[in-house]
Amino acid sequence: MANAGWVVTGADISQALIALAPPAPNVTYVHGALENLDLPAESFDAAISVTVLQHITDDGHFDAAVANIGRMLRPKGVVAVLEYAPLRVVGRKAAYLRARSRAEWITALTSRGFARRRETGIRFLGHGPYMLAVYAARRLNRHRTEDPPQGLNGLRTLCQAFDLALARIPGVTLAADVRLLVFEKSSRP
Ligand SMILES: C[S@@+](CC[C@H](N)C(=O)[O-])C[C@H]1O[C@@H](n2cnc3c(N)ncnc32)[C@H](O)[C@@H]1O
Repeated sequence: MANAGWVVTGADISQALIALAPPAPNVTYVHGALENLDLPAESFDAAISVTVLQHITDDGHFDAAVANIGRMLRPKGVVAVLEYAPLRVVGRKAAYLRARSRAEWITALTSRGFARRRETGIRFLGHGPYMLAVYAARRLNRHRTEDPPQGLNGLRTLCQAFDLALARIPGVTLAADVRLLVFEKSSRP
């Protein structure tokens, strides 16, 4: 984004992960929980969450984070969330993830004065066979130390290409697992 001319502030709750982020012109990193970030109100044109909000597992903290994004955005500012957002959440998920359905994401944002503007997504069908192959390789005990097994890189590329091709088919987006939802803050508070 900085390369495209934006002045960027990157925020993360983990100081260790911020330390891994490469310094770049026009990019400032701040350490803190999204829900507590004390940056000036109405000072950002856009906010992007790439699999960050889904990791705020406490609903109260999640609501506070969405509210804080709304506070920091200018009127008509845009928020884009790229998160796990299937039509229906089925089965148990890992404890580090608070799985929300597409409808829950939309409600979380629209109930805070955002209007939905755009949506796309990807359904990870190819990812399944790749993960099965990873599992099989580990069971065969050949790749204990490698994560993921390098020998499966070709298969991974093929599976990713399949999923990206699928994402271009109209209608498949609706059945996506991971979705990019774009919202606009209303012009009035
Ligand atoms: C799956 S990683 C995604 C990181 C990055 N967006 C990317 O795509 O590579 C999730 C990140 O969210 C951060 N995170 C989790 N809860 C947070 C919170 N409440 N406020 C800010 N960052 C948080 C974690 O520290 C972690 O760096």
